[in-house]
Amino acid sequence: MDRLLCCVTLSLLGLGLLQTNAFDVHVTDLANKTCIYASMKANFTIQYDTNNDTRADVTLQAPDSVNASGSRCGEGTEAPLLMVAFGNGLSWSLNFTKNDTKYSSDVLTFTYNTSDTKLFPDAKRQGLLTSTSHSSFFGAVPLNETYKCDHGDTVISENVQQLYWNVILQAYVQNSTLGNEFRCSADSPTPSPTAHNTTSATTPKPTTKPVDNPAVGNYFVSNGTGKCLLASMGLQINTSLQVDGKNIWTVLNIDPNTTESSGSCGNDSAILRLNDHNATVVEFNFLLKKNNFHLQEVNVTLRNGSATSQTVNSNLSLWDASVGNSYLCHKEQLISVSEDLHINTFSVRVQPFSVQNGTYSTASECYIDEDSILIPIIVGAALSGLIVIIVVAYLIGRRKTHVGYQTL
Ligand SMILES: *[C@@H]1O[C@H](CO)[C@@H](O)[C@H](O)[C@H]1NC(C)=O
Ligand SMILES: *[C@@H]1O[C@H](CO)[C@@H](O)[C@H](O)[C@H]1NC(C)=O
Ligand SMILES: *[C@@H]1O[C@H](CO)[C@@H](O)[C@H](O)[C@H]1NC(C)=O
Ligand SMILES: *[C@@H]1O[C@H](CO)[C@@H](O)[C@H](O)[C@H]1NC(C)=O
Ligand SMILES: *[C@@H]1O[C@H](CO)[C@@H](O)[C@H](O)[C@H]1NC(C)=O
Ligand SMILES: *[C@@H]1O[C@H](CO)[C@@H](O)[C@H](O)[C@H]1NC(C)=O
Ligand SMILES: *[C@@H]1O[C@H](CO)[C@@H](O)[C@H](O)[C@H]1NC(C)=O
Ligand SMILES: *[C@@H]1O[C@H](CO)[C@@H](O)[C@H](O)[C@H]1NC(C)=O
Ligand SMILES: *[C@@H]1O[C@H](CO)[C@@H](O)[C@H](O)[C@H]1NC(C)=O
Ligand SMILES: *[C@@H]1O[C@H](CO)[C@@H](O)[C@H](O)[C@H]1NC(C)=O
Ligand SMILES: *[C@@H]1O[C@H](CO)[C@@H](O)[C@H](O)[C@H]1NC(C)=O
Ligand SMILES: *[C@@H]1O[C@H](CO)[C@@H](O)[C@H](O)[C@H]1NC(C)=O
Repeated sequence: MDRLLCCVTLSLLGLGLLQTNAFDVHVTDLANKTCIYASMKANFTIQYDTNNDTRADVTLQAPDSVNASGSRCGEGTEAPLLMVAFGNGLSWSLNFTKNDTKYSSDVLTFTYNTSDTKLFPDAKRQGLLTSTSHSSFFGAVPLNETYKCDHGDTVISENVQQLYWNVILQAYVQNSTLGNEFRCSADSPTPSPTAHNTTSATTPKPTTKPVDNPAVGNYFVSNGTGKCLLASMGLQINTSLQVDGKNIWTVLNIDPNTTESSGSCGNDSAILRLNDHNATVVEFNFLLKKNNFHLQEVNVTLRNGSATSQTVNSNLSLWDASVGNSYLCHKEQLISVSEDLHINTFSVRVQPFSVQNGTYSTASECYIDEDSILIPIIVGAALSGLIVIIVVAYLIGRRKTHVGYQTL
C-alpha cells in the first residue's frame, strides 16, 4: 500500500502576533521524493449550534506543527491528497487534478470535533463534523510550477469560513524540485482585487482581509466637439453577500486598467458609466440646477455569470460645485447606495458640465478637505486662548498674594 514518509518542519516567522503560524509540509513517496509541497497560514472560523439554541463562533489557527501522515502522492487514478491534522480531531485536506498542462485543486475538506468541549462549549451536536468546498482553492496552474499567493483569500463552506494567506503550494512535484513561481493575480503590484484568480469576468468573493485602496483612474466622456465630462477617482465597492445564510461584507476595487468609460453630456444632466470587465458597472448621474451641479444618482450593476444584481440610489445630493468649476475631494468619502452596498471614493475630481479645452476648471474643494486645514486652526486658536487665560489667572493670583503680604 501507499506508505508515505512525511516530514513536517516548522517555519515560525511570528513576532508574538497571533496570526503568524505557518505550517510547512513535504509529502513524499516511497522513494522519498517530494510529490506535494505546501506552506501556508490559515485561520478557521466555525459556527455551531449551542444547547441554548444560539449560534456560537470559534476561531482558530492552523498551528505551525501539523501531522501530514494522512496525505498521499496518488497512484494510477487515485488523486494526490494533502491532508494535515492538528489539535484534537481537526483536519484539513485538499485533493488535486491535472491534465497535460495544468493542475488545480479539487475538493477542500475541513473536519472538526464538536465533542471537544474546550473548543466548542455547549455544542448541541457532538462528534466529528465535515465541511467541504468544491470551489477551487486555486485555479489552473501550469504543471511544474509553484502556486504562490501572499494575499489573503477566503473559502466559505457550510458553517466554516477559512482564510489563507502566504500560500506556497505545488502538487505533482517532479524530481523533488519545486518549479518556477506562479503568482496569484491578487499579488500583482497594482491593487486589483477584481482580478482574483480567474481571467474572465469575476464576481465578488467574500474576503475578510482589508483590501488596498483602489487605484485612481482618469475617465472622460466625449461628444462631437471633444471631452465634455472629466472624472478621476478611485472606487471601492463594499457589498454584503449572503453566504450560508450569513451576511458577509466584501470589498472590491474598480481597476482603472480594465475599466471603460462612456456616458452622455446634456445641458442639465450628464452620465458617466464605468464598466469594469462587464462584471461591475457603476453609473453616475449628475444634474445641473440653477448654477450648481451635483451627483444625483448612482447605479451599480454587479454581474456573476448569468446572475445580475442592480442597486440604485436616485436621491443623492453629493459632490456639488458651481457650474464652470470642477469638484475636488482628496479625502475618502462614502456613498451609500443601499443598505447592502456602499461605495468608498478616493481622490475624486469631477467636472460634468462646461468642460473647456478638455481640462479641468478651477477646483471647488470639498468641505472635508477644508476641514483638515480648519481643525488645526481651531485647535490652535483654542490653545492660544487657553494660554491667555492661564497667564491672566496667574497675574491676578500674583497680585492677590502681593496684596496679602502688604496687609501683614
Ligand atoms: C528522506 O529525505 C530526507 C531529505 O530529503 C532525509 O532527511 C531523510 O532521512 C530521508 N528518509 C529516508 C527514509 O530515506
Ligand atoms: C448557555 O446558557 C448558559 C446558562 O444560561 C450560559 O452560562 C452559557 O454561557 C450559554 N452558552 C452560550 C454558548 O451562550
Ligand atoms: C477529491 O475528493 C473528493 C471527496 O473527498 C472526491 O469526491 C473527488 O472525486 C476527489 N477528486 C479527485 C480528482 O479524485
Ligand atoms: C474528539 O474530542 C473528544 C473529546 O475531547 C475526544 O475524546 C475524541 O477522541 C476526539 N475525536 C477525535 C477523532 O480526535
Ligand atoms: C487543461 O486544463 C486547463 C484549465 O482547466 C485548460 O485551459 C486546458 O485547455 C486543458 N488542457 C488540456 C490539454 O486539456
Ligand atoms: C515537468 O517536468 C518533468 C521533469 O522535469 C518533465 O518530464 C515534464 O515534461 C514537465 N511537464 C511540463 C508540463 O512542463
Ligand atoms: C533531478 O535533479 C537532479 C539534482 O537535483 C538533477 O541532477 C537531475 O538532472 C534532475 N533530473 C531531471 C529529469 O530533471
Ligand atoms: C495598469 O497599467 C499601468 C500602466 O500601464 C501598469 O503600470 C500597471 O501595472 C497596470 N496594472 C494592472 C493591475 O494591470
Ligand atoms: C464595508 O461595510 C461594512 C458595513 O457597513 C463595514 O463594517 C466595513 O468596515 C466596510 N468596509 C470597508 C472597507 O469600507
Ligand atoms: C461586455 O458585454 C457586451 C455584450 O453584453 C460585449 O459586447 C462586450 O464585449 C463585453 N465587454 C467585455 C470587456 O467583456
Ligand atoms: C442602471 O444601469 C443599468 C445598466 O448599467 C441600466 O440598464 C438601468 O436602467 C439603470 N437603472 C437606473 C434606475 O438608472
Ligand atoms: C486650449 O489649449 C491650447 C493648447 O494647450 C491653448 O493654446 C488654447 O489657448 C486653449 N484654449 C482655451 C480656450 O483655453
